[in-house]
Amino acid sequence: MPTPVASSRSARLLSRFHEVRDFTTKLSANLAPEDCVVQSMPDVSPTKWHLAHTTWFFETFILKKWIPGYQSENSQYAYLFNSYYNAAGNMHRRDLRGLISRPTVEETHRYRSSIDQHIDNLLSRADERLFDEIEPIVVLGIHHEQQHQELLVTDIKHVFAQNPLHPVFRERKIDIVPAKPSPLRFVEFDEATIEIGHDGHGFSYDNEGPRHRALILPFSLATRPITNGEYIAFIEDNGYARSEFWLSLGWTTVNEPASGGWQAPLYWEKHDGVWWNFTLSGFRPIDDSEPVTHVSYFEADAFANWSGARLPTEFEWERAAANLPMDGNFVESERFHPQALPGPAHGQRLEQMFGDVWEWTRSAYSPYPGYRAAPGALGEYNGKFMCNQYVLRGGSCATSHAHIRRTYRNFFQPEKRWQFNGIRLARDPQ
Ligand SMILES: [Fe+2]
Repeated sequence: MPTPVASSRSARLLSRFHEVRDFTTKLSANLAPEDCVVQSMPDVSPTKWHLAHTTWFFETFILKKWIPGYQSENSQYAYLFNSYYNAAGNMHRRDLRGLISRPTVEETHRYRSSIDQHIDNLLSRADERLFDEIEPIVVLGIHHEQQHQELLVTDIKHVFAQNPLHPVFRERKIDIVPAKPSPLRFVEFDEATIEIGHDGHGFSYDNEGPRHRALILPFSLATRPITNGEYIAFIEDNGYARSEFWLSLGWTTVNEPASGGWQAPLYWEKHDGVWWNFTLSGFRPIDDSEPVTHVSYFEADAFANWSGARLPTEFEWERAAANLPMDGNFVESERFHPQALPGPAHGQRLEQMFGDVWEWTRSAYSPYPGYRAAPGALGEYNGKFMCNQYVLRGGSCATSHAHIRRTYRNFFQPEKRWQFNGIRLARDPQ
């Protein structure tokens, strides 16, 4: 029998585990089975795949390791629902996930329940020593699940956006009077040598360390993200047609026939002179005061150049965020859309650093000094992606508040637009 200490710790962990697992189920609860199987582009995974893959993670890295003689209910799930862990065996092709009609959505939910039951049994019977071994992997699995909750939301948005019926993921009222954005100001920061990276208290991903010192030269950071209205000014100034603002690779991407020639952020359409966008609450006119989102790194960088500014480095961002509360519009609000700043101008405070939109930085996603990926499958979680991607900071309206940290490093390739990614400007001393 477990010791009382282990049993109270396991009760706490299991409560957190079920809370996060249940939120995934809640996110998919309004979807029809037909919604859950579509893959609208290679980057997008069907909802059903997210439901199954997050379950596979707990089965593979916990149950198979710690339950002697564990038998999967279907041994082929290991192949179907492995994403990219080479050390965990072969995997099905990512771009073909939408072709898999079995297991059905119902069978996938049964698979989730069965694995949850096994985790319950394992943790509630674990003694202190066993619990100490398993706990960090359960915590990693919980954070992994939260990452997939965000992907589930952004992926179903992309799926629904392909449908001329404009399906609604979640009903939401339109604000009758759009908020008036506060004027864009800049907060100045002096030169400083600061500690960058996670301090080791509580959970973090391996890519947030090792903590190390970094010299930050003087800079200033915009008080809030760029709004739709400000971005429309860039579009109307012919921003998408003026090569002088664009990185070479960005210019090629904007003009690629395959991309259809970008003229605006993803999900934007102009009708009778008015910009509309597709949201998880339907197709609606753009609110000028909301933070602009669904822009690539290329667009963020071009906008910054057009503005006479630049994107911040991830180190500048981390410095500016160091003492700010991590409040904001996260997935728990279930708005599933960035929100305009409430109220009138706020002066010199940094606003919306957390939540609403991920903020592109100009920092390449690369290892911090001294970083080594751990051996084995879980060492593949972050390290092997440190190539050709840029870091984003702060979380979005699809990120869980319990998932974000000031040191959190999200990363995407510069041409990706389907995440809730936005723009905050920085400047060198004038
Ligand atoms: Fe994953």
